[in-house]
Amino acid sequence: MVETSKKMVDEETINDKIAEGESIEEELRALFPRREGVVSLSDFMEHEGVKLLLTRSNEVLGFLGYTEHGFRHASIVAYRAWYILKKLLYDDRMCELAAISGYLHDIGNVINRHFHEMHSVFLADTTMRDLGMPINERIEVMIAIGNHDEITGEPVTPIGAAVIIADKSDVHRSRVRTPQNIYEDIHDRVNYAAIDSELEVSEKRDEITLKIEIDTEISKVMEYFEIFTERMKLCRRAAHRLGINFRININDIEIL
Ligand SMILES: [Fe+2]
Ligand SMILES: [Fe+2]
Repeated sequence: MVETSKKMVDEETINDKIAEGESIEEELRALFPRREGVVSLSDFMEHEGVKLLLTRSNEVLGFLGYTEHGFRHASIVAYRAWYILKKLLYDDRMCELAAISGYLHDIGNVINRHFHEMHSVFLADTTMRDLGMPINERIEVMIAIGNHDEITGEPVTPIGAAVIIADKSDVHRSRVRTPQNIYEDIHDRVNYAAIDSELEVSEKRDEITLKIEIDTEISKVMEYFEIFTERMKLCRRAAHRLGINFRININDIEIL
């Protein structure tokens, strides 16, 4: 259980829902309710522009053959970015800014997949201005979003580091749009083979482990690294930015 100022969050329930491919939006709304004086994650989740941006960018990426990048992915990255900083005892607002960054990090795909992280920055800033967020908070979110991609990004801030790990850890069967394609498309195959994935910060707060359960009848573990090595290297740098080590455990075997 993670204790927050307002309520206890049942990590197990959320992880079970993620494993089952169920929505965790309800839990996110409960974690970050609308309240006086701050712009909360719920304000973004209820924002009509954000809803449309997520819907349309997910459709655009679907057309291009990418895995799911809609409300499901946004919610999981928001939750996990929050979870990482919360476990490492960052203050509540910083943790919520990580959640907001995670929720908005991929909306730029609506403009183009290439440089989508930069497009996400400006679309997010338009929304943040719209909701009246102060410039210092907007900057933190923009740095994190603009640095989340493995080709152009680096974990330059703690929030950015948390978003990177949260984003790259989201490999799961429920992201695959057309399971019939898994024999032709390695990304679909590896995602489809990933029955469960979970992030865990150790009790001592000295390491974060990405635990993945892969159905090796569908994809060999080697295929995971064939496509995700650069992402895992970025996760390691992100963990170091947070002062901890990054570990990978696949099918109960320590890989890293
Ligand atoms: Fe992205
Ligand atoms: Fe993403």
